Amino acid sequence: MAGEKILEVEGLETSYDMIKALKGVSISALSGKLTCILGPNGAGKSTLLFTLAGILNSDQGKVIFAGEDITNQKTSDLVEKGLALVPENRLIFPHLTVKENLLAGAYARLAKEREKVEQDISAMYARFPVLKERSSQLGGTMSGGEQQMLAVARALMSKPKLLLMDEPSVGLAPMIVDEIFSIIKQLNAEGISIVLVEQNASKALEIGDYFYLLDQGKQIFGGSREAILKENIIKKAYLGESAG
Ligand SMILES: Nc1ncnc2c1ncn2[C@@H]1O[C@H](COP(=O)(O)OP(=O)(O)O)[C@@H](O)[C@H]1O
Ligand SMILES: [Mg+2]
Repeated sequence: MAGEKILEVEGLETSYDMIKALKGVSISALSGKLTCILGPNGAGKSTLLFTLAGILNSDQGKVIFAGEDITNQKTSDLVEKGLALVPENRLIFPHLTVKENLLAGAYARLAKEREKVEQDISAMYARFPVLKERSSQLGGTMSGGEQQMLAVARALMSKPKLLLMDEPSVGLAPMIVDEIFSIIKQLNAEGISIVLVEQNASKALEIGDYFYLLDQGKQIFGGSREAILKENIIKKAYLGESAG
């Protein structure tokens, strides 16, 4: 329901062997809203999304999704519950065709509702015409922007309630970045809750509802667009360089 917390993260700690990458991160995301996570390289943004998506296990802390404690549950179970990740650098399956990539995104639903999945693929082709044109092309041979659209479409095939997106604009030309951001905005307007990690802070500020700033594995700010713009120190330290 709109306005309710779809995601609540409390004191999350995640490590890689000896390195503690998350040192007690607490954030929440409201249903239907676009929550942005900003912060410099190495801040722990991807680690946070990986932990939320069940790819990494946390050592400490709690993740509540749609009212249920999902801490350290398996990725496949989380996908079934409505949580999908669009990973950094797209990470589509390069040796599968566009259509096979989309089918892979719906794997949890394939056995039960194959026909419905085919309908959803048609709907995805209507949303992203370039994917229809390229349906039998290998994913790895598409351009960066096309791969990003495929990565988004693949995640949408699982019918997510909450979409986690890791730096979707990275390495793309400004025009393509605008296109990707308008897709994100559109999906959010259609009711999908989104947690967006971005390096491009000025673009994120255009579309986000709520913002968190991570630094060295800690959450150092949380607030509205107005609040983050008022914080001059934060602006200088983290938004100045990547803005534009
Ligand atoms: N696979 C890994 N093994 C060891 N350390 C890692 C690994 N991935 C990330 N890290 C470290 O964890 C910290 C957070 O990284 P990451 O979550 O990728 O940051 P961000 O996405 O904000 O750039 C960094 O210090 C990084 O070097
Ligand atoms: Mg990252």
